[in-house]
Amino acid sequence: MTPPLPAVPGRAFSRSPQGRPRRIPLAITFCALWFIPLLLAACGTVQGSGRVPDDMYLSPVRPDRTIPGISTSDPETGPSPLPTPTRWPRIAASPTPAPTRRPTPFPSPTPTPTPTPIPTPTPMPVGTMDEFGVIFYNGFADPRTIVPQPAGDPGNLAALVNKRYALPAEYVPPLVQVGDTGHSLHPAAAAAWLRMRQACLDETGIVLHLVSAYRSFDVQARAFSLALLRKGLEHTVAYYALEGRSEHQLGLAVDMVALSSAGQWIRLDRSPAYAWLLANAHLHGYVLRYPAGAEERTGYAFEPWHFRYLGVEAAGACFAQGWTLEEYHGLPG
Ligand code: DAL
Ligand code: ZN
Repeated sequence: MTPPLPAVPGRAFSRSPQGRPRRIPLAITFCALWFIPLLLAACGTVQGSGRVPDDMYLSPVRPDRTIPGISTSDPETGPSPLPTPTRWPRIAASPTPAPTRRPTPFPSPTPTPTPTPIPTPTPMPVGTMDEFGVIFYNGFADPRTIVPQPAGDPGNLAALVNKRYALPAEYVPPLVQVGDTGHSLHPAAAAAWLRMRQACLDETGIVLHLVSAYRSFDVQARAFSLALLRKGLEHTVAYYALEGRSEHQLGLAVDMVALSSAGQWIRLDRSPAYAWLLANAHLHGYVLRYPAGAEERTGYAFEPWHFRYLGVEAAGACFAQGWTLEEYHGLPG
């Protein structure tokens, strides 16, 4: 007679046909208790803290979450051996806990050094040299590369002084003060300029203002050197005469601006006075010396402010013929 099995709540003991309790089903049950959770965990469906959020494993993987070499669109892939986003360790499905990423300490803000602007080196202008060794920049000859001829008689009011015809360093013309302008000119040029200014005022209501008139050899030398420093080579050779090569040294050249009613300087070609001068200056013995379009003949860029006294006869001829002073003399600029 086999004694009855003890009643254990929740347990069903079976017996063999011989009446002995069965052992194998219990072992299976025991193993199952161990393996089922492991199996489920390996499938990624169980985790101590909850289910895998659907939006992370089961929804299509957004391109920005793609890890090279790992198909994160596969929900069975499990935890990635690659660095996992911070939220992912909570849902790791492997029995082996994924390495916990320590939060990277937030770097304390380092003062950003203000970058020191690196000055862009000014490229050296590229010049071209003619068969006489004269170097040109943008079509304008560097006067330092020209061996000049002596200018003709500087006592001649129409004397030509340019990059190729030079005055002696010691040449100083007869000079007078030009009204109350603070500038001086050759007496003929001064008187003519004062008349011209009055005529311009009478006919246009615009006041002409002298900015520069006679300049000595030394003053011209400083002007050229300063221009090289401040304006650069290309600008300087286009607008500045070397010492001895400026007709300002003759006392026969003026640089002018127009004065606004508020007393401000206005570049001549931005004032109606400019058109008046173009039409009338020759009547007072003056001409625009470096016109636009005549750069190859004069050797200088357009200077709307620079007029030259030649005397009424020579100025009238230039005006009538459309000549530059170089063409008047038949000499190069
Ligand atoms: N600006 C003219 C060329 C001079 O300096 O004499
Ligand atoms: Zn000038």
